[in-house]
Parts: sequence; C-alpha cells; structure tokens
Amino acid sequence: MVETAKTAELMQPSGDRRWDQPTAYQLWMEATGLPIHRGFYVPDARTVELGSWPERECKAAFLELTGLEGVSEIRVTEISPGKSLPPMKFGMDEVVYVLGGRGLTTISDPQTGQEITFEWGKRSLFELPRNCTCTLSNAQGNAPARLLQSNYLPLALSVQGDPSFFFNNPYSGPTPLSLAAGQFASEAKAVHQELDDGGVAAGVFWYGNFFPDMAAWENLTPFKARGAGGSVVWIRFPQSVLTAHMSVFPSRTYKKGHRHGPGWVIVIPAGEGYSIMWPEGGERVVIPWQEGSVFVPPNRWFHQHFNLGASDARYVALHPPMHMSGFSEKIEDMARDQIEYANEDPWVRNRFQEELGKRGLASLMAEDAYHDPKYQWSYDAKAS
Ligand SMILES: [Fe+2]
Repeated sequence: MVETAKTAELMQPSGDRRWDQPTAYQLWMEATGLPIHRGFYVPDARTVELGSWPERECKAAFLELTGLEGVSEIRVTEISPGKSLPPMKFGMDEVVYVLGGRGLTTISDPQTGQEITFEWGKRSLFELPRNCTCTLSNAQGNAPARLLQSNYLPLALSVQGDPSFFFNNPYSGPTPLSLAAGQFASEAKAVHQELDDGGVAAGVFWYGNFFPDMAAWENLTPFKARGAGGSVVWIRFPQSVLTAHMSVFPSRTYKKGHRHGPGWVIVIPAGEGYSIMWPEGGERVVIPWQEGSVFVPPNRWFHQHFNLGASDARYVALHPPMHMSGFSEKIEDMARDQIEYANEDPWVRNRFQEELGKRGLASLMAEDAYHDPKYQWSYDAKAS
C-alpha cells in the first residue's frame, strides 16, 4: 500500500529538515497522488474534483483547508455503483458524513469476531471505530456514493510520522465495538447533563454511532449563548474522543460572531447563506454556502453565520480534540471570544440586510437584540 511503501522513506528523520518543510501528513497526502484542494472553503464537496486511488479502489481527494492547521483531515471518497471498498483497519476513530448516495457499513472486531452492519443514506453521520475492520459499500447500482471523512491523522502524524502505524497496525486490544457493542447497534440516545449555562457542555447530548439524516434531525436544544434563537444537538460517539454538533438557526437571522481554535470542520446539510471569517483587526473573508459546502474557520479568527434562506439553516461541526478547542480558558475571558450584537460592527448587519434585499427579503433579527446584550430570544416548540 502507498501508505507503507512510499512514505516509510519520506518519514526518515532528517538532520537538515527545517521548520518550514512539509509535515509528515502533507508528504503522505502528496504520495497518494490525489487532488488536494486548498483555500478557506469548498463551495460544494458533492462535486469537487476527485482522483483515482487504486490502493483503496475508490476516487478521492483531500480538502486541506486553511483552518485545519495540521489538526484534522478532511477527505472526500467516492464509491462506484454497486462496489464495496477493501476492508480498512485504521488506528483512530473517523467520522463520516454522507454527501450523497446510499450504502452499507460493516464494522467487525478482529479479536472477538463481533460484527454490525447498518445502512446509511444522504446526509447520514456515523463513526468508524478505531482498530476495527470497516467495509463501506455502495448499495445503489446506478449512482456513486460520496462521503466526507474526518479524523485527527495530521495531528497524529506530527508525533508518529509513519502512516503505516495507523493503517496497518496489528493492535489486538479491546476496540470501541467490544467495549460498547450495544451503543453501536442501537439508535442514538439522549443523555442529560445538569448544567444550565446554554453553552457547549450544557443540557442534552446525543450519544450513539449513527445519525440517519442530519437535515431531518429534530432533537434540538436551545443554544442561548449564540443568539438568533438558534438550537443545537451535541453529539458524542461511543468510546471515542471524537465529538460534533449541529447548529440550526431560523430563516433571515444570523448568529453572534465568535472565535476559537483550529480544526472545526463545518459541513452544510441544509440551508442557504454565508459566513464571514476574519482575524482580529484584519480583512473579512465571505464564504457563501449551501448544501455540501465545507469550510473551517482558521485559528482564533472570528466567524459568524448568516441564514439567507426561507427555512432553517443547518451546519454540522466536527470538533478538534477537546483540549484544542481554543476557547479562552477563563469565564471572564468569554467576551474576548464572542461579539454581542450590540457590540458588533454595523457593517455586519448592513451586509446582511443588503444580501436579503437582493432576494426581496427583510431581516427577522429582533431590533432589541442590538441594544440589549442580555436580550432573550424565543424558542419554538421543536427546540425543547
Ligand atoms: Fe465556531
């Protein structure tokens, strides 16, 4: 496999290697010969150009977006009609979001022989557990299936530079499947946390391995801290360090600007709008989005999400490792990481109104929110 043969020599320690040289992960990506798409965002990962990856019998590409900053990987994989990919045993957990198509995933534990299979479809979200043998199949005979996959391989290769350690490691200890079999085979479950700050750790999170359709998921909790009457589902995967969330916010509103660390991978399952991203005191980057758009806010850049559509907008965020979240560490520092509507640059709301105006629409932002930093949005029945 290319993971072993080509990169083993590239990974040899070199006394003259300088700090500005490519990382082990970048060398591995280049060794595959696949397209590498760079920049702040990809307008539509459902149509992004792919290349052939003979070792894995698929088409694929890497999205090395600026905000990943060596933390997370984003890979797009396409499975031909009716085809199953070669079984893979990968040494870390990986999240899969289905950009298009229908298929099956079989996960088996090489030690116990335990095996589960589940079906997925467009906009499903699921996880492939580490050290299990995972097989992905396209269930349709007339259309490709396209997946977006994310893991912490760039970070992992920064401390162990040989990819074969992660792709071919004969590790034989307990796997997430053997440790939490029931949680892989059943529907995700709500877990209540007795916190009430409306923030990242509060309220309810959903624990499970398979979320059938992120565009249809309605088990949401108000996300009061971020404004706009928005709601959220916090997601954790069984026996995994990976976490995620999906934010949902109403038509013709926008969320508060905020910032954090790198590696928060955002993919859009539904809606139409744009986001702005900017370093403190720097130029703004505008990112138009729709279903299939992917972007990653760079480290400590402010960013803000705007819904221009006629219905709720949704974005799924795949998180970096928990200790790298990049939020300011003290509660009194929160004001450094979030901009209340009352304190934002008027350019923000003016641009929003202009964009809506082009569509013959008007903002549904509450005027009071611009004057009262403690303004309370109302939440509809689904956001219970
Ligand atoms: Fe964010």
